[in-house]
Amino acid sequence: MKTPVDIAITGAAGQISYSLLFRLAAGEFLGESQPINLHLLEIPPAMSALEGVVMELNDCAYPLLNRIITTTDPKVAFDNVDYAFLVGARPRGAGMERKDLLQCNAEIFMVQGKALNDVANRNVKVLVTGNPANTNALIAINNAPDLNPKNFTAMTMLDHNRTINQLAEKSGVKATDIKNVIIWGNHSNTQYPDIHHAKIKGQDALSLVENNWFINEMIPTIQQRGAAIIKARGQSSAASAATAAIKQMRLWALGTPASDWVSMALVSDGSYDIEKGLVYSFPVTVNDGEINIVQGLEINKLSLEKMKLTEKELREEKEDVKHLFS
Ligand code: NAD
Ligand code: LMR
Repeated sequence: MKTPVDIAITGAAGQISYSLLFRLAAGEFLGESQPINLHLLEIPPAMSALEGVVMELNDCAYPLLNRIITTTDPKVAFDNVDYAFLVGARPRGAGMERKDLLQCNAEIFMVQGKALNDVANRNVKVLVTGNPANTNALIAINNAPDLNPKNFTAMTMLDHNRTINQLAEKSGVKATDIKNVIIWGNHSNTQYPDIHHAKIKGQDALSLVENNWFINEMIPTIQQRGAAIIKARGQSSAASAATAAIKQMRLWALGTPASDWVSMALVSDGSYDIEKGLVYSFPVTVNDGEINIVQGLEINKLSLEKMKLTEKELREEKEDVKHLFS
């Protein structure tokens, strides 16, 4: 039997976690031979609901679920953890943009960045899902001076999956026939889902779908998909977000397939002339837990404009939260 790995999940009584926790416990993240300990963080008013979730987890009698810790203290939740899913944060409602959440959620990531800095495993992999995810990750990084900024990513895998789906639906193929889509920038309505390098069954995507559809339908659909789900369900995406969180963390831990790349938001190293230090979504591959930004892609004028626009928004968000950096 392998030694259990320690996984923290914040916002453990929330919507996304109600899908995420059960799938982690079933082995969807690290496979069916890897036992896990779950460290579940919530705020006091949600502890009763969390007790119910724990009862349900226990009632599943999962063979891989070794231990569950519940707490309201981030330092207990993050103690020596190998992985941290930072989900807990307020979701937006109808008519809001994700950046409208910055003021109410920013402080959560300041406190949690400090706690991770103090007690997490030095190799911890931290995935920020709570919105606005890129800038919340930036806040956490800037409150964790003893951790490598490369230990943090923000989630744009849901946008990546959405783009694969749009392209697969449009061209009447399976999702697995689509490769090399890219999400550039912010998990917001300025994000740029780019299919200039995408392949459909090995052929250039833009030789198979119309440019007009790509620009006037696909891009706005992806940029507004979160809002469309909120309008339809009355609540923000949850199961698809949990799927994306597991996929992003699994590929980070275990590596990307040789035939494809994925999108993750991580600290910019200046690649593609994006301001160093911003948490920006790039196409990446992963080897031995190390994330590498795919280099050398040709960027046309349209792409450059869209990449710069979403970078500008991230710069503005950074200005709004700088006072929270330690
Ligand atoms: P939810 O309201 O159902 O759950 C959030 C949970 O977080 C609640 O149980 C709440 O008590 C808890 N929480 C609040 N402050 C906390 C703190 N300081 N520490 C620990 N827990 C805390 O929301 P949800 O639908 O699960 O969404 C969570 C976040 O994820 C939202 O910000 C949402 O916008 C975001 N989200 C991001 C993506 C993405 O692609 N990046 C996708 C979907 C949702
Ligand atoms: C999403 O993309 O579904 C989430 O970020 C939730 C939201 O606010 O749109």
